[in-house]
Amino acid sequence: MRKRIRILVLNGPNLQLLGTREPDVYGRVTLADIEASLQQTANELGIIVECRQSNHEGQLVDWIGEAVGAFDGLVINAGAYTHTSLALRDAIAGTGLSACEVHLSNIMARETFRHESRLAGVCVGMVAGFGAASYSWGLQALVHWLKSREYGEILKQS
Ligand code: DQA
Repeated sequence: MRKRIRILVLNGPNLQLLGTREPDVYGRVTLADIEASLQQTANELGIIVECRQSNHEGQLVDWIGEAVGAFDGLVINAGAYTHTSLALRDAIAGTGLSACEVHLSNIMARETFRHESRLAGVCVGMVAGFGAASYSWGLQALVHWLKSREYGEILKQS
């Protein structure tokens, strides 16, 4: 039987505060709610997800490094590290993990310092602006991409 796809879901700094953190921007959904809904999406897709959160950049870098061989892909909301962290960018590039960047808010519609993502250039794509649903759609998009790649359906980009 075919091995089930395994996806690591990483959340960065301050995302443990979801539910009470700036609800006008991020809504009232908690991180536990998001993780439960991702488990449900994973069941529907027949895949395995593992969710972790840390406020520490080095911990996130360690988890990405350790994910090689253990996971097939990465869904990541790096929080504010999105805009600053070359170490996270290098970890994704260095491992070669297929990654989807997600954000609850539409970072391009917010303050200019949020417009640049250090991670975007090493991710397959990004889902941002759909609140908690960004995670579920990001997961589905990444799984679709991994399956398409496996079957050679991705067109070669020049
Ligand atoms: C965020 C957007 C970031 O700019 C911010 O620092 C966060 C949350 C989002 O999910 O919308 O912590 O990643």
